[in-house]
Amino acid sequence: MKLLVTGGAGFIGSNFILYLLQKDADVTIVNLDVLTYAGNLENLTAVESDPRYTFVKGDIADAEIVGRVMGGGIQAVVNFAAESHVDRSIMDPDAFIRTNILGANVLLTAARDHKVERFIQISTDEVYGSLGPTGLFTEDSPLDPTSPYSASKTAADLLALAYHKTFGLPVMVTRCSNNYGPYQFPEKLIPLFVTNAIQDKGLPIYGDGKNIRDWIYVQDHSRAIETVLKKGKPGEVYNVGGSNERTNIEITDYILKELGKPDSLKRYVTDRPGHDRRYAIDSTKIKRELGWAPAFSFEQAMAETVAWYANNRPWWEAIKSGRYQDYYLKHYGKLE
Ligand code: NAD
Ligand code: DAU
Repeated sequence: MKLLVTGGAGFIGSNFILYLLQKDADVTIVNLDVLTYAGNLENLTAVESDPRYTFVKGDIADAEIVGRVMGGGIQAVVNFAAESHVDRSIMDPDAFIRTNILGANVLLTAARDHKVERFIQISTDEVYGSLGPTGLFTEDSPLDPTSPYSASKTAADLLALAYHKTFGLPVMVTRCSNNYGPYQFPEKLIPLFVTNAIQDKGLPIYGDGKNIRDWIYVQDHSRAIETVLKKGKPGEVYNVGGSNERTNIEITDYILKELGKPDSLKRYVTDRPGHDRRYAIDSTKIKRELGWAPAFSFEQAMAETVAWYANNRPWWEAIKSGRYQDYYLKHYGKLE
């Protein structure tokens, strides 16, 4: 299968490429990525000389380059490319509209015109908005996004499904919960807190720290995408979750304990505007229909993740000493 992966230099995209090239000898992958602040080709050094892998630098909102790549015999598309950080979308939504909505539309149009056989839109559980203390998101839960990020992802999710209904494009949509693992940009909760704790810096907990996320190891997500790519039914939506709900304080405590760092590193800071309280995913459908379930335990995969950041300091120190730091200080004030 000749696969186009977009956004493959980011966190989940790079983990997916590494996973699939190891798992499937028959796959060839073209990675189309414009390399925003979040794109990092270092994530893919292990495969850069693999003859089954090609990198193309380009923007998914650029119809000319997308048409050229898609016309090169692409059979399937997995669209990861997105602006992905909620806090950035609150500060400056424009790039989210351009990439997440207009870019997705360019890809869908090209996939339709080139008669692509499978198209997976990587959506998110954030399309459902926030849950109360009980209940789980199913694929039939109402869509109720709350941030510019999640609203833009919802637009793309619905556009993708519309291309199935209107044009017969074989689209599948996955809505996954919070991922963790290697190569995650250190602006997201887990890599930010792990790397700050290693550096004995404060850990900025938003609000009361009791918001809940359903955490899944990135390799379990990669296997879910592979499963949908190979066995999913066109026109269907598949929820993907870790069945692993934790408050942000529980995550913080876990990281501090794993690294042997003191509780005094915790800093309670101003809450995120519109901060969703709880996400929790019901993955019954993908398990029942396609046979996927998460395989990693939180304890095992988190220990490996913390160890990965501890053992790969040059990877994140390069990021944190540059543009990222300026951005963070500007918006969240001084972190010692
Ligand atoms: P990321 O921010 O780490 O990576 C995004 C990648 O997309 C980067 O390599 C970036 O350079 C690229 N990109 C951005 N704009 C582009 C454009 N216009 N053209 C081409 N490439 C572009 O994101 P991530 O955390 O790996 O998330 C990947 C996808 O998964 C996103 O669509 C996100 O919405 C979705 N998702 C993420 C999570 C999570 O927990 N991180 C959970 C569910 C769904
Ligand atoms: O649920 C899936 C989504 O998960 C994806 O669609 C997004 O792309 C991804 O970024 C992630 O969104 P979140 O907003 O849940 O992730 P983030 O790591 O930014 O925050 C996780 C929780 O931790 C959230 O309740 C906010 C809180 N937080 C985050 C940061 C960065 C803090 O308390 N302090 C922080 O510094």
